[in-house]
Amino acid sequence: MILVNDQFIPRENVHIDIEDRGYQFGDGIYEVIRVYDGKIFRLDQHLLRLERSAKEIKLVLPMSIQEIKEKITKLIAINNLSTGIVYFQVTRGVAPREHSFPNNRVSVLTAYTTEKERPLDKIQNGIKVVTTEDIRWLRCDIKTINLLGNVLAKQFAIENQADETIQIRNNIVTEGSSSNFFIVKNGNLYTHPANNFILKGITRDVVEEIAQKLGIKFIEQEFSLNEVYKADEAFITSTTVEIMPVLQVNDTKISHQPGQITKTLQNEFSKLL
Ligand code: PDD
Repeated sequence: MILVNDQFIPRENVHIDIEDRGYQFGDGIYEVIRVYDGKIFRLDQHLLRLERSAKEIKLVLPMSIQEIKEKITKLIAINNLSTGIVYFQVTRGVAPREHSFPNNRVSVLTAYTTEKERPLDKIQNGIKVVTTEDIRWLRCDIKTINLLGNVLAKQFAIENQADETIQIRNNIVTEGSSSNFFIVKNGNLYTHPANNFILKGITRDVVEEIAQKLGIKFIEQEFSLNEVYKADEAFITSTTVEIMPVLQVNDTKISHQPGQITKTLQNEFSKLL
């Protein structure tokens, strides 16, 4: 079943209007949430971020955060989702095509679930990433469905036999196409500050929590690609990839196997699931 505003509808009966502003302008916001064995991971944090994204683009949510929480929880139960993801988005609704906001705004929320196993092989063995210029807009902190820059970046990885593309703006490493990026140097964690140039990932927040608990320094600081090449370890984080070791960046090997700090963080992360 699919959640459309407050209704649960079979997929074949869901119709998206051609003048939905999400469809025409990418005028909307979204979240991707993990479910492990029927248990939702960090739902409250995802909803808080949704609320913030809505505020930043002046989008009025169709119901309260508490109601969204109840609907999402019910959707997971109805669909009997075991291990997988919930994707949900809210667009600014249906209106004759005009760039400016419609007057009678009724936003449209849709949510669906997909069974998806954890990518355990890559979590254990690591991945290769490539880099490209970050051509996205200047509000990457908003989780908008307008993802063309991210789409092009991810496609670049696929075309270059890599798993993710790390983006670089003015010589500063920002983040992956759909993940945050970290390096480890001398036992400390480094990642881009949570400002308008990156999405503040929920998994990134979890890594910060774990680091604090273990006494590992979590340093939000800009760094260049050269510093990445000199790092002891690197990894990406996201709801879908969790904490995934990066062994190679372009043609440079960072480490031959997942590093000690990365493995320690992964180990603590699995205890939270
Ligand atoms: N993407 N940065 C970007 C650009 C992202 O798209 C994502 C997540 C993240 C990590 O955020 P989180 O830890 O909250 O998942 C960082 C989701 C998974 C997606 O678009 O599929």
